[in-house]
Amino acid sequence: MPGSERVEKPLLEVLAGTSHTPPPVWMMRQAGRHLPEYLELRSRAKDFLDFCYSPSLASEATLQPIRRYGMDGAILFADILLVLDALGLDVRFEKGVGPLVQRIEAASDLTRTTHTKAIDRLSPVFETVIRVKRSLPETTTLIGFAGAPFTVLLYAIEGRGKTDKATARSWIYEKPDEMRAALNEIVEITALYMKAQVEAGAEALMIFESWAEGLADDVFRELVIAPNAALVSRLRELDVSVPIIGFPRGAAGMLGSYVAETKVTGVGLDTAVVPSDVARDLPPEFPVQGHLDPLLLRAGGARLVARVRELLAAYAGRPHIFNLGHGVLPDTPIPHVELVLKTIRDGA
Ligand code: CP3
Repeated sequence: MPGSERVEKPLLEVLAGTSHTPPPVWMMRQAGRHLPEYLELRSRAKDFLDFCYSPSLASEATLQPIRRYGMDGAILFADILLVLDALGLDVRFEKGVGPLVQRIEAASDLTRTTHTKAIDRLSPVFETVIRVKRSLPETTTLIGFAGAPFTVLLYAIEGRGKTDKATARSWIYEKPDEMRAALNEIVEITALYMKAQVEAGAEALMIFESWAEGLADDVFRELVIAPNAALVSRLRELDVSVPIIGFPRGAAGMLGSYVAETKVTGVGLDTAVVPSDVARDLPPEFPVQGHLDPLLLRAGGARLVARVRELLAAYAGRPHIFNLGHGVLPDTPIPHVELVLKTIRDGA
């Protein structure tokens, strides 16, 4: 058949404001260490950065959870810290430690290389997108992503993720001009990076603001809302028209303001979000994604099934993409993921 028929992609339809029963589903970190086939693939690359910059390995890792589970969304296999590597900072992933990043002292530490060179360094990622797109089932949506400016910057200021984040959060009080300039740098390179992902074939974008929790409301506006809004607006200015999902993890009482002020198309809800607050704080037609507890997914059992049903009921009638409240944990049993999918799809 000639490719003239428009194929329905449930995930894109939900982001366009139509609710689906059952909802489309995918899971953050669906590719990765809980899958034996990922561990096998991972052993073929020298280190994690090499893995991310290898289109054959990264495209295969993107597709593995699609083949195994038939997820409605395929998340590009890459990492939010690639942007810092592309900007010329030393980024390493140490086994058992997590990411280690060369620390910056000033916004000018982010301008060592040109945008052209940075995007060039990221070009294997765009090749990954092209390859995935070729092999994706026609109802599956390919989601590109990047870290949100503050979350990415936090790694460059703190040097690692497992800290109390106080140094990065204090910049807005102690050197606000430096903080705003640094955020602007990340906004621009991230917009160019995401635009290139869309040009290569990404059909939706997600912005991971993984470290938005615990901020004072005025600081949340400056570190989270303003840079996310600037990124969305810059993408639109660059003619990127695909839907954009924001994920302000830990936004709590600021969720409504985040949605109203950033102009994201949909919002990823974290584990701690209260469904009745969503009903109160977000417009009824606004698409949401989330938010099963990854710890419950790992634990499994009757409580898992009950909670999946509870979430389905809570968001019935609203455009909803089923997902977790954060990423799949590495020791999550595969049958638990299958149980969630069965519960959603059987509508039982
Ligand atoms: O299925 C997917 O989601 C695949 C793509 C993906 C990865 N990282 C692969 C990865 C995505 C979307 C990310 C985003 C990411 N990376 C975030 C935002 C989402 C979140 O979890 O809050 C953050 C904060 C990072 C930074 C990062 N990368 C950390 C903190 C770590 C170490 C922790 C860990 O899980 O090991 C990574 C490494 C990483 N990124 C792995 C994977 C599969 C593990 C690397 C390995 O295989 O050893």
